[in-house]
Amino acid sequence: MMTVDEILDKPKLSREDIIRLLSISDDKEQKALIRKAYAVKIKTVGQKVYLRGLIEFSNLCRKNCFYCGIRSENHKINRYSLSEDEIYRITTYAIQRHFTGIVLQSGEQNSPAFAKQITSLITHIKKMTNPSLRITMSAGEQSYETYQEWFDSGVERYLLRIETSNENLYNKIHPDNAVHSFQNRLQCLENLQKIGFQTGTGIMIGLPFQTINDLADDLLFFKNRNIDMIGMGPYLVHSDTPFARFSASLLPPEERFQLSLRMIALLRILMPDINIVATTALQTINPAGRASGLLAGANVLMLNLTPITYHDNYLLYDNKPGSKEEELPDEFDRKLQQIGEKIVYNDYGDSIHFTKRNSHG
Ligand code: 5AD
Ligand code: SF4
Repeated sequence: MMTVDEILDKPKLSREDIIRLLSISDDKEQKALIRKAYAVKIKTVGQKVYLRGLIEFSNLCRKNCFYCGIRSENHKINRYSLSEDEIYRITTYAIQRHFTGIVLQSGEQNSPAFAKQITSLITHIKKMTNPSLRITMSAGEQSYETYQEWFDSGVERYLLRIETSNENLYNKIHPDNAVHSFQNRLQCLENLQKIGFQTGTGIMIGLPFQTINDLADDLLFFKNRNIDMIGMGPYLVHSDTPFARFSASLLPPEERFQLSLRMIALLRILMPDINIVATTALQTINPAGRASGLLAGANVLMLNLTPITYHDNYLLYDNKPGSKEEELPDEFDRKLQQIGEKIVYNDYGDSIHFTKRNSHG
């Protein structure tokens, strides 16, 4: 059998290699994998961190995903939507703080009124900031026309996680109805790419019923689909969801964390020029989570700019951090410099993968 070092030296990793590397349990092997991924990162995207300001502008959601704390059947939370003025105020703050991009995230709403509101919001933000801000939307599955309208109004990037690339597993973690269709989600991802968004997707790691083979296939899915940006983090239990009943059967948190780092590292090796987020979920499972994510190959941080009064109503999982304190870029910068990483303020931090893809026509 090949050693981990020998596998890491191969010019191309097979599915079996990926499975073997995801299955690492030895500390030395884990370190070798992460060292290799970090070397790839330095060569391709550099020791740079791009900051995005996250605005969780509404927790209204028509879906009922079994794992998520803001699913429509969770009646314990208060539903909110920020006013346009609140969003403009946060955007102004983001600009003052030298953010070059914001992420507008919400649950999934599909009324025509919602689509129109977003269009007018984006149009206004674009007028108010032009050209100093990149806008990422993350508002679930929408029609082709709505995506096109949002793109035309100035949204450059879109995040839509596939959650898992295994259709069977997808069907186990979602209710069985037309609103939760794997095929529609795939179609939406294709539409986003066709329209011309920098397209981001991602998955959760350590879901009930998920296997290492599923995770290997998720990585290959990202590669085959030519994705530009990835956000993936450990699955975390929310106690007011149906999936809380599987808590005892999950990988222990520390193992889920280490597996998440191996996923990031392998992704960086497989897709050297994409943007990878060090997610909040990583930080939730381990206090040094995001820094570890950056050292395993991630290069983007999303700092939560949602006003603190709303945080308790946007808990996708238990113990989501930041419900008490604000996240300040300056503090991050100091911490990051200690690990050799530097926040970049004079660059949009577009996915190099996307830029190359487009310049080749
Ligand atoms: N644990 C981790 N991530 C979650 N998400 C939703 N619920 C959870 C959870 N319990 C992620 C999903 C979704 C994103 C907004 O948050 O991947 O796409
Ligand atoms: Fe809604 Fe997204 Fe949560 Fe599903 S994961 S319930 S779509 S917010």
